[in-house]
Amino acid sequence: MIAIGCDHGGFELKEAVKKHLDEREIEYRDFGTYSLDSCDYAVYAEKAAKAVVSGECEKGLLFCGTGVGISIAANKVKGIRACCCSDKFSAEMTRLHNDANMLCLGGRVVSAEKAIELADIFLDTQFSGEERHVRRIAQITDLENRF
Ligand code: RB5
Repeated sequence: MIAIGCDHGGFELKEAVKKHLDEREIEYRDFGTYSLDSCDYAVYAEKAAKAVVSGECEKGLLFCGTGVGISIAANKVKGIRACCCSDKFSAEMTRLHNDANMLCLGGRVVSAEKAIELADIFLDTQFSGEERHVRRIAQITDLENRF
């Protein structure tokens, strides 16, 4: 199950990616927003991020105008490693090296075609599990616990 969330700036991109997930028969839960009406991205980042850290959803896809605001908000939720990116290399590496659990995309930055490509890479790439990456992620968790 994939958690989905967006603000108005990412709404149309979210809908395009959802259509693709439907085609791939990948299950998701859409935490909103559900229209183009102006809203606040932190609200939807929190809803979707909570579903990921609780284990209800294994990963999440978030969308706002740039992908940046919603990624900053999601990363405030303990246990979230959200990556804002617009290129294929980062989408793959953030799974391999960072075991990122949320991908954040900008509706004013990437096309629907690009977003679908990035979401597919993100969802289909497994964490490498290599010792140095496990160690570095543990350091991130430690940092999170100390502040
Ligand atoms: C909303 O206008 C916009 O600020 C938001 O979608 C996002 O880009 C913030 O980072």
